[in-house]
Amino acid sequence: MKGILLAGGHGTRLYPLTTSLSKQILPVYDKPMIYYPLSMLMLSGIRDILVVSTPAALPLYRELLGNGNQWGIQFTYVEQTRPRGIADAFVVGRDFVGESNVCLALGDNIFYGHGLPTILKRASSLRKGALVFAYPVADPTRYGVVEFDQAGKALSIEEKPQTPRSNFAVPGVYFYDNRVLDVAGSLEPSARGELEITDINNYYLEKGELQVEILGRGFAWLDAGTHESLLQAANFVQALQERQGMMISCPEEIALRGGFIDREQFRALAEALQTNRYGHYLLQLLRDEFKEAEF
Ligand code: TTP
Repeated sequence: MKGILLAGGHGTRLYPLTTSLSKQILPVYDKPMIYYPLSMLMLSGIRDILVVSTPAALPLYRELLGNGNQWGIQFTYVEQTRPRGIADAFVVGRDFVGESNVCLALGDNIFYGHGLPTILKRASSLRKGALVFAYPVADPTRYGVVEFDQAGKALSIEEKPQTPRSNFAVPGVYFYDNRVLDVAGSLEPSARGELEITDINNYYLEKGELQVEILGRGFAWLDAGTHESLLQAANFVQALQERQGMMISCPEEIALRGGFIDREQFRALAEALQTNRYGHYLLQLLRDEFKEAEF
C-alpha cells in the first residue's frame, strides 16, 4: 500500500499564522505538524509516500523531509495548484498511486493511543473496498459523520449534517483500494466548490464495501486547524511526553522500531541532533536498548 500526505489547503482558520506559512509546517509543541500524520503512515507500514502541497509550500516540505532515505522511506512530491478539495489528492496523486491501494492522511490530524500500530497495520492490509475510522465527538455537526452496524459496516455517511445520525466523526486517515482513483476522477465539485472525500466514501458505502473501525475513548484524535485546537494539541503532546518520557510521533524512533533503518543509521541521525533535547531523546533510546518495546 502507498500513502498520501495532504499538506495544502487554505488554512484560513489559522490566519494570520498561515498568511505566509503552510499550516502543516507549524509547530505542534516540539515537531512540525506534518510529523504526526506522517507517523500514522509509517506505523501502518507504508514506506512509499506522496506529499501534496501548494506550489509555494512544496519546497518547504522538500527541505523538511528530503527524499526519505534518512528514515528508510521514500517521498515523492506533487503540487496541488489550487485547494480543490481533499478528494483531489487522488487526482493529483493518480500517477504516483499507479496500481496500488492507498492510504490518505490529512496533514493536520493528530492521533495517539495504545494499540494504534496494530489497528493501522490491520487497516493497511485491506485488499478490497475502503476502511475509515469512527471517533466519538461532542459536536458531530462539524465533521463527516458515519453511522454503522454492529459488524462495522457503514450505513450512512454525511458531511457536516445538521441532524447527525450518530456522534461518530470520520477522522482524517482513510484506506482505499485502487478504484478510488477512478471514483475521484469522476467526481464533480460540491456546492462549496470542492471534491469531497465524503462522496468517495459514499461510493464505497453504496456498494456495501465501506468498513468502519471504531477508535474509542482510549484514543486521542485532534486536528490542529484552529488556534484553540493547535494550542490544545501542543499541550496534549507536551503533557504526555513530559510525563512518560516517550515521544509522540517521532519518525526516527518509528523508523528504527519498524526496522526501516538499522541502529547505525539511527545513531547517525541522533548524533547530528545531539545539541538539543530531540537528539538527547534519540540517544537515550539507543542507551536503553529499547527495554520497553511497546509504543
Ligand atoms: P481543511 O481543514 O478542510 O481545510 P484547510 O486546511 O484548507 O483550512 P481552513 O478550513 O482553515 O481554510 O483541510 C484538511 C486538510 O487537508 C488540511 O491539512 C489541508 C488539506 N487540504 C489540502 O491539502 N488540499 C485541499 O484542497 C483541501 C481542501 C485541504
